[in-house]
Amino acid sequence: MKEKVEELLKEIQSFDANDQNELEQFRLRFISRKSVVGDLFQEMKNVPPEERKQFGVLLNDLKNAAQTKFKELISSLESGGDTSFAVDVIDPTLPPPADKLGGIHPLSITKARMIEIFKRIGFNVSEGPEIEDDWHNFTALNFPENHPAREMQDTFFIEKDPDIALRTHTSSVQIRVMENQKPPIRTLSPGRVFRNEAISARAHCVFHQVEGLYVDKNVSFKDLKETLLYFSREFFGKDTKIRLRPSFFPFTEPSAELDISCFICNQKGCNICKYTGWVEIGGCGMVDPNVLENCKIDPDIYTGFAFGMGIERITLLKYQINDLRLFTENDVRFLKQFRSVNW
Ligand code: DAH
Repeated sequence: MKEKVEELLKEIQSFDANDQNELEQFRLRFISRKSVVGDLFQEMKNVPPEERKQFGVLLNDLKNAAQTKFKELISSLESGGDTSFAVDVIDPTLPPPADKLGGIHPLSITKARMIEIFKRIGFNVSEGPEIEDDWHNFTALNFPENHPAREMQDTFFIEKDPDIALRTHTSSVQIRVMENQKPPIRTLSPGRVFRNEAISARAHCVFHQVEGLYVDKNVSFKDLKETLLYFSREFFGKDTKIRLRPSFFPFTEPSAELDISCFICNQKGCNICKYTGWVEIGGCGMVDPNVLENCKIDPDIYTGFAFGMGIERITLLKYQINDLRLFTENDVRFLKQFRSVNW
């Protein structure tokens, strides 16, 4: 039996296939189920039990040798330019394989569209660090010393005294831009922000904002309103209306909440707008003179407006998505649905 195996091994090693026919002969003799190797496996049951293990090892080696040789014969035929063989493997009449390109993440689509719209009216893009000091995230933005937003439940602090934290909003970039540039300033700062909140369908501890800032001589509340109306119509549709509701932010005076008319029900009343006809998309206001002063910009000469919007919130509304967690779960079935979105 052992001699038989050795004989076959020699035969395998010296085999040479010059064309596809000979390759097929090799396959039939050594690889297929009815091959000599297959027959030997059948004979295992006649081998005395004490020799069976050793014989099994020999047979496996033989099988592996046959398979290795088979692969070698295929690649040498391919590289030798046997076209009859190649044509068999590559069928040029078949349609090309399906497109496996990925898509753009819905949050990236929204961010890119927002930037594109504001760029048209003269805004550029600024970025700032995600790890911020107290000055840029709070103090320079006119947050009073014991404002609740500074407390541990909202902010992820990294170090205390001096305070270093993960930024809670992109308004910190406003400060960095005003410290480093002279008006006129017209900038947009998109970015990731962090708040110590429990993750649910409506809230996440990591999300994205777009902050807008315009500082120049004679910038008025009317400019703010027109800018937000322009954006809302470009983004949500030309019939969109906006509404500014009085509100409070430490860094703006006066401050307002920005609502747009519900484009889902056309203000007839639905779940999304909670039957009010309006949905909130961000906050805004005139930059508080204290903030300008903190950045060494003279509030007697310059005025400015600012606004902040949540990218997740806007994406949820735009595509009527009901759970924020979908954005971070990376479920391909969800992400695939945005492959064809035009942006
Ligand atoms: N920073 C605010 C927040 O995170 C959003 C905001 C509101 C930004 C009003 C602004 C603004 O620039 O004027 O909730």
